[in-house]
Amino acid sequence: MIIAIDGPAASGKSTLARALAARLELTFLDTGAMYRAVTLAALQRGLAPSDEGACTALAVGLALGFDAEGRVLIEGEAGEPAIRGAEVTAHVSEVAAHSGVRRALVGAQRTVAAEAVAAGGGVVAEGRDTTSVVFPAADLKIFLLASPAVRAMRRAQEEGRPELTSAYEADLARRDAHDSQRSDSPLLEVEDAVRVDTDTLSAEAVLDHVATLAAVRRPV
Ligand code: CDP
Repeated sequence: MIIAIDGPAASGKSTLARALAARLELTFLDTGAMYRAVTLAALQRGLAPSDEGACTALAVGLALGFDAEGRVLIEGEAGEPAIRGAEVTAHVSEVAAHSGVRRALVGAQRTVAAEAVAAGGGVVAEGRDTTSVVFPAADLKIFLLASPAVRAMRRAQEEGRPELTSAYEADLARRDAHDSQRSDSPLLEVEDAVRVDTDTLSAEAVLDHVATLAAVRRPV
């Protein structure tokens, strides 16, 4: 079974996808972590995030994998927590806008899913093109929404920095705009996705709701 969870930055995709994968015993596929991993590796190698050719060559050649908990491995080394750093966050949307980078990572994501399905399981994939481009034939597509203020508050609380809420709101708005306006695979609410607005729902309530939808859609 393939479940794809899409939506804007910090809408709760990761929290939901991770918990749902655990509950349904499916593989958690964090596609954003892969874009962050390529961005981190580019910065470490002194490549310009604007350099499409160099970033593409890097994405094609970089060995990305996942540990048992679904955390990204870069050339076998843990990508966390470095991939969540401010410098990576500042540049990831630019790197993720390059078509060559997207082609390489989308291919890798489909391979992960195909292997999981072949083994009798499946994936819960989250990220900004998983319902539209990566898995257009997913068994269940979710578009997760939350208002900018709520998303910024959650992200600031997650990091233990409530005083940064307004700075986060500005950063999320910047990334939403960049991700929505890029020409290759913009953030898009596809017609057959189920829209879930999480402003007034706890993480638990969102999980229960989506798990119920998944139970109905599970192929026999
Ligand atoms: O969790 P958060 O919204 O901070 O971001 P993320 O899921 O870690 O993704 C970081 C960035 O990677 C996004 O802002 C997008 O620019 C890019 N991304 C993408 O282009 N396509 C995906 N499938 C996932 C992430």
